[in-house]
Amino acid sequence: MNVLTWNDSLVLNQPQIDQTHEEFVDLLNQLAQVLATDADPLPTFREVLAHTEEHFAMEERWMAATGFAPENCHSSQHAMVLNVMREVVRHATELRDLEPMRIVVGELAKWLPQHAEMMDAALVYHMGQVGYDPATGQIARPPAAEAAPISSCGSGSCGGD
Ligand SMILES: [Fe+2]
Ligand SMILES: [Fe+2]
Repeated sequence: MNVLTWNDSLVLNQPQIDQTHEEFVDLLNQLAQVLATDADPLPTFREVLAHTEEHFAMEERWMAATGFAPENCHSSQHAMVLNVMREVVRHATELRDLEPMRIVVGELAKWLPQHAEMMDAALVYHMGQVGYDPATGQIARPPAAEAAPISSCGSGSCGGD
């Protein structure tokens, strides 16, 4: 059974992010399927983790290129998610406890739509505002040199400014 279905409400109209999010949804569903069997889910979970590390690193490269501070609300949420996922691996390997993994699959299925709608959408909007092309690294309308680095996620909903 799928824990999340790819649908139009998840589309942000940024091709690399959309493709990455669709892959994430697929991997999450694969993981849920493996968890419903007696097979070892850890290899699939490690795939989801590796994919998520690259997914977040891509978005953070774009943030860095478009004027976000290294410490910003969006990156902090990424770091929190990766910490939880690494804890899941530790529980599965050191304690032979798969319960955290079962919980996290459901939580990630709820997390992605919210994160995409709020933080990733704000990043895509910001990239559009400055005219950033990830393929070339060119910025058509660079922020003014004296502009402060962005530390909120551009949506004011995370306590940023
Ligand atoms: Fe994302
Ligand atoms: Fe993100």
